[in-house]
Amino acid sequence: MQIPITPKLTEKLQPNFVPEIETGLLAKNASISPKFLYDPLGSHLFTAITLLPEYYPTNTEKNIFTKYHDQITNAIGTGGTLIDLGAGNCQKAESFFNALQPSNYLAIDFSVEYLENALKKLEGKYPNIQMQCIGMDFSKELIIPDSITKAKRTFFYPGSSIGNFLNSEALELLTQIKSQASDGGLLMGVDLMKEDSVLIAAYDDPLKVTAAFNLNILRSINAQLGSDFRVEQFRHQVKINHLENRVELYLEALEDLTVSWPGNSRVFKKGEFIHTENSHKYTIESIQLLLNKAGFKSTQIWTDPKDYFAVIYAQ
Ligand code: AVI
Repeated sequence: MQIPITPKLTEKLQPNFVPEIETGLLAKNASISPKFLYDPLGSHLFTAITLLPEYYPTNTEKNIFTKYHDQITNAIGTGGTLIDLGAGNCQKAESFFNALQPSNYLAIDFSVEYLENALKKLEGKYPNIQMQCIGMDFSKELIIPDSITKAKRTFFYPGSSIGNFLNSEALELLTQIKSQASDGGLLMGVDLMKEDSVLIAAYDDPLKVTAAFNLNILRSINAQLGSDFRVEQFRHQVKINHLENRVELYLEALEDLTVSWPGNSRVFKKGEFIHTENSHKYTIESIQLLLNKAGFKSTQIWTDPKDYFAVIYAQ
């Protein structure tokens, strides 16, 4: 039997983002949370990024999943619930359906419209898997509905999305996952440190897809806040922060300008930045330490020949 997609659940869990956005925009060093990158167009642009030859994480992770498919699925075992964090188009999780044979699939993402479309397509293909989707900002709190059995929950967090959190936030999320996984575990993809040239090419690609993805956050904010950002007044900028081991994305104002929204406004001087994303790169040691701190006792790790990326199953 299939459980229908639950838009009601979705509505309940979508908070009012206006205060959070205003705080970021009015700060001396303006910032916008990267979750706002993923409006419907942003989600499509991100999918396009994953197809770029320069954006190595997606392909490298896929190759690891393929090469070590049996080892990974044997480590996890069959049955239970597969909980897909940041499910997007659900394709990565689908590649494990046949081997893992979950009885339930719970897809969670910030952009619920995109998710609903993806899940509708999947439901018909896998009649034995009960499917649900939830729109949730799990960067704040991970709430798994009580209707999802606690037995054998496998959290699936691929794509190194953990890297988009600060260390303290990543620890908080991993701790919440561990406490809700009970006898299950976490299958996660993690991007590893590497030379700057590879990172710059991946985050400032020559087709400018990443630039469009980053700039689109301004339109996403206009929709949330009622602001009047004009995309053509900004440009995409990438910096490598070696102290924090991360790639940082910014939007730089190309001229002096004022952005207004109901009840407030902000002046940006030419050359001023809005920080839109951090993408942390780990070492095997640093991610293991974080997982241990979060309460995970054991890890199995698979990497690619260049050690660009790691897939980890933690319990
Ligand atoms: C989703 N996340 C892991 C991507 C990353 O690499 O940090 C988002 C991204 N930003 C620019 N390109 C891709």
